[in-house]
Amino acid sequence: MLLKNLLSATLLLAATAATAQNRHEYLLDSNWKFSKGDVPNAAKPDFADAKWQTVSVPHDWAITGPFDGNNDLQVVKIEQNQEQKATQKSGRTGGLPFIGTGWYRRKLAVPGFGSGQRAVLVFDGAMSDPHVFVNGKEAGHWAYGYNSFSLDITSLLKPGDGNVLAVRLQNQSEASRWYPGAGLYRNVHLVVTDDVHIPVWGTYLTTPEITATQAKVTLKTTVETPGGKPQPLRLDTEIRDAAGKVVATTSTELTNGLTFEQNLTVPQPKLWSPETPVLYTASSKLYAGKVLKDAYKTTFGIRSFKFEKGVGFSLNGQPRKFKGVCNHHDLGPLGAAINTAALRRQLTLLKDLGCDAIRTSHNMPAPELVALCDEMGMMLMVESFDEWKAPKVKNGYSQYFDEWSEKDLVNMVHHYRNNASVIMWSIGNEVPDQSNANGPIIAKRLQDIVHREDPTRPVTMGLDRFDDDFKYGIAAVLDIPGFNYKPHRYPEALAKLPQGFLLGSETASTVSSRGVYKFPVEKAKQKQYPDNQSSSYDLEACVWSQTPDEEFAAQDDIPNVMGEFVWTGFDYLGEPTPYDEKWPSHSSYFGILDLAGMPKDRYYLYRARWNTAKPTLHILPHWTWPGREGQTTPVFAYTSYPSAELFVNGQSQGRQTKGPSTEPQSRYRLMWKDVKYAPGSIKVVAYDAQGKAVATEEVKTAGVPHHIKLVADRTALTADGKDLAFITARVEDKDGNLCPDAAHSLSFAVSGAGSFRAIGNGDATSLEPFQKPQMRVFQGQLVAIVQAGDKGGAVQVKANSTGLQAGTITLQTKAR
Ligand code: GAL
Repeated sequence: MLLKNLLSATLLLAATAATAQNRHEYLLDSNWKFSKGDVPNAAKPDFADAKWQTVSVPHDWAITGPFDGNNDLQVVKIEQNQEQKATQKSGRTGGLPFIGTGWYRRKLAVPGFGSGQRAVLVFDGAMSDPHVFVNGKEAGHWAYGYNSFSLDITSLLKPGDGNVLAVRLQNQSEASRWYPGAGLYRNVHLVVTDDVHIPVWGTYLTTPEITATQAKVTLKTTVETPGGKPQPLRLDTEIRDAAGKVVATTSTELTNGLTFEQNLTVPQPKLWSPETPVLYTASSKLYAGKVLKDAYKTTFGIRSFKFEKGVGFSLNGQPRKFKGVCNHHDLGPLGAAINTAALRRQLTLLKDLGCDAIRTSHNMPAPELVALCDEMGMMLMVESFDEWKAPKVKNGYSQYFDEWSEKDLVNMVHHYRNNASVIMWSIGNEVPDQSNANGPIIAKRLQDIVHREDPTRPVTMGLDRFDDDFKYGIAAVLDIPGFNYKPHRYPEALAKLPQGFLLGSETASTVSSRGVYKFPVEKAKQKQYPDNQSSSYDLEACVWSQTPDEEFAAQDDIPNVMGEFVWTGFDYLGEPTPYDEKWPSHSSYFGILDLAGMPKDRYYLYRARWNTAKPTLHILPHWTWPGREGQTTPVFAYTSYPSAELFVNGQSQGRQTKGPSTEPQSRYRLMWKDVKYAPGSIKVVAYDAQGKAVATEEVKTAGVPHHIKLVADRTALTADGKDLAFITARVEDKDGNLCPDAAHSLSFAVSGAGSFRAIGNGDATSLEPFQKPQMRVFQGQLVAIVQAGDKGGAVQVKANSTGLQAGTITLQTKAR
């Protein structure tokens, strides 16, 4: 809700002379006061908050726990999981204390603010139902916790430093199907401009024509003026390439209305793609006569894409299929609190996987994620809703849908329609409205809103009610029909769909726990074990879902299937299927990587298929099975090579080759199903298509745990008080083999120019807090997260555990 208040008379009188001509953007990240619970008068400027906790934002008030299965207990029948009766779900939202009210307060110094200026607050997302107060008066509110919104607070500000910002947030019980986080979990910005200015998300840049020699760029820039009155203004725009060289310029006088339209030409454009994430910047300066009123930057990429009947998806003229993952917004041990280094690490891991697309399931992403996808090369399906009018949970988005859905879509599209990475918009996921005649009507209304705001991108959604999708007609409405978990019905869908293609909008939902292997090895649905873990042989799924290979086969065999978005890239807090009814279990088992960001075996199954630039050769399980001597212990290889020979203690177990088969696993994995365990080693020798031995991989039986090894994802950090290193701790034997059963508790000491931030071991059943520098390794490993301070220097990290040689590592932080 953008409040377009005029400068109040009071402020005009009290104002100092307008000095700043340009925009000033302040990140409101420090010196917030926070209190959990509802507090009367907390919005009042003179409220005494000294005793409140001092926090920095982004902040997730619930991630500190403690975990408790009674938090947000839900007695529900989960329809999309095909449940027949309501049962009690304990960890559905992660078992963390996010429910209730929370208040944040902060001083708002607006240096030099005075007449002729505008002040706007931008919230990237606030969980949830934020009500924002400035100097005791309500500036506005936004219902949906995942969306970005801005509020014009000009009329509420006093000159000087004495302004107070207060935000009240409230999270309801039974409002979510996963952990939503709590509080100001995304950034808050203050934007101060001249009152003649370009508003928040005020540009819309498109590239309507692209050839090898030139790209046409159309930039529409909206301006706001006092009273909305048109006035003579000029906009000078220059486009710079990635090296900062000016490649196009233009200058435009405002003739009528309040929108400039500029057309520029970029010669020899370098095209954006996941493999070549080249970005350009359009820098605009707004002048009234000779006076500079505003300066605004729009980052963009030049790329074209098409979704064509009978052809499918192509990017820059090259047909390709989406190698995508669905991700939730939480960052595991960091909770929902957004952190750029954590997101960058996720994307780095996904890039190595060969993944080229993310679906922001099932809500709007943080702007930091979208910017990183632009920069690092990752296509995005930006999703909006998990519910429309018909609820999935008692207090979910359905309560807001009628009033808010259009406003939510408009903000989403305006926020991200200039981003190169954004390829499509999703208007929903598995909404129960698929099953009635109103569903297609709502879908059309939402799709039309998105088209109105951005005619350049198609609209999709995740459909799961296959028969109803055709019976009531929603599948035919969408630009891109997306199906969740329906590889076996793709041919039927394609025969009926007018679009001539479809997308695997959500696939697989295979469950596994990193490093855990169960015997006998067999395909199973909803398989449960007494330890609340799932097997990493990657053969276990849910009643509605599949193993990865089943989707691969459908993707490979059926034309016009445009790729997949696997559920999920990373494990996330909440939804601990198949243990929804069993506590303790606070997080998902679906991830290709675990909750701490460590790859599971499945990582290599996808990498072998997706990463075409680098070879993959990975074997499982681990080979430390005291007590299993002589017992059948199958060995699988996930590899990009077509064939390999397995040796157990030097003895050949024969050569396996991927090939046509009715069993999808045999097409995508090499499997030696009858191997008998004997301690020692397993080794595969992989052969290329010409039959040449090209690579080997060996796993040895581990000896007794001997030492802790620390490996950091990055050792050079920026001293900005935010940058993070993710340090994997491994319990190894004296020869450096991972001890796969180790469960030692490790204690971390961090000294010097950084501090301990959080810890995670990827064990969904662990109730140890993420914020204490101590945790048990899970299957021999955990990840400690260390944060840079704001002064450059060395950071020493030490991990201790009784009976093990300590592990140490040194990081360096450097001022920017
Ligand atoms: C889907 C749903 C996802 C998640 C997944 C688990 O039905 O869209 O949000 O619940 O199932 O398999």
